Amino acid sequence: TRTPVNVTVTGAAGQIGYALLFRIASGHLLGADVPVKLRLLEIPQGLKAAEGTAMELVDCAFPLLQGIDISDDPNVAFDGANVALLVGARPRTKGMERGDLLEANGGIFKPQGAAINAHAADDIKVLVVGNPANTNALIAQAAAPDVPRERFTAMTRLDHNRALGQLSKKTGVPVSEIKKVTIWGNHSATQYPDIFHAELAGKNAAEAVNDEKWLAEDFIPTVAKRGAAIIEARGASSAASAASAALNHVNTWVNGTAEGDWTSMAVPSDGSYGVPEGLISSFPVTTSNGSYEIVQGLEINEFSRTRIDASVQELVEEREAVRALGLI
Ligand code: NAI
Repeated sequence: TRTPVNVTVTGAAGQIGYALLFRIASGHLLGADVPVKLRLLEIPQGLKAAEGTAMELVDCAFPLLQGIDISDDPNVAFDGANVALLVGARPRTKGMERGDLLEANGGIFKPQGAAINAHAADDIKVLVVGNPANTNALIAQAAAPDVPRERFTAMTRLDHNRALGQLSKKTGVPVSEIKKVTIWGNHSATQYPDIFHAELAGKNAAEAVNDEKWLAEDFIPTVAKRGAAIIEARGASSAASAASAALNHVNTWVNGTAEGDWTSMAVPSDGSYGVPEGLISSFPVTTSNGSYEIVQGLEINEFSRTRIDASVQELVEEREAVRALGLI
């Protein structure tokens, strides 16, 4: 029998938490043969709802679920964590400036990073989902100097999956035959979904689509603004798809990308593709044996260059803002 993996989930009582926890417990995070222990972190007002969710988890009698702990103390919730999904964040409310938003999230991600530094397991892997995800990941990373910096990642897998969905809808090629799509930059409206290296049933996607107007005026804005479109349609933000993408992100990180394919993850830049070193920016990555590498050597055309640069510039500004606030 394998020792259970400790999975810490913050914002456990939220929408994404509710869509995420049952699937973690049923083996969709790490695999159908890996037992898990859940460690749920909430703020005091969220504890009661988290306890209700924990009751339901018990009632599912998942064979892989070997325990649930709930706390409002990051030092407890991250104790022994092997995987941390940082979902809880402070949303932007009406009239809130970016500086206020970053400061409020600094108040969450700085102590959580410090708790990870002090208490998590040596093999800790961190995925930040809560927005602004890339910069929240940077804040947590800065507060955890003893953890290898590449263990802090942010989620652009939902954007990646949205791009697969839109390409499939446009071309009729099933998602299973679409490869090498890339999301570059920030998980925000400036992100750049790139299909110039993508393959549709073995053919170059940009050539197969052969419609730059659709690319510029339909595909890219549809993927980048999908979150707002979901809110408009559903009356609530994307939760099941976000949870599904979080499972995909960690599962791919742990279990590897398929031969001949890659995925998109926001990871600390090593300077590749002109992205300033240290920024947590989305790249094409391959994974194996629990680690990842940024795909090297892709040719970046003019169309892509402008869009990557614009999104990276936004990350540079966010980093400057949190630096000015003393958060990193
Ligand atoms: P929600 O508001 O339903 O839930 C958030 C939960 O986090 C609440 O239960 C709240 O009490 C909790 N929380 C707040 N501060 C906390 C703290 N310091 N420690 C622990 N828990 C805390 O929100 P939802 O829909 O679950 O979304 C969560 C986050 O995910 C949001 O920031 C949202 O913008 C982001 N998101 C990111 C996506 C991505 O692709 N990267 C996609 C969709 C959502």
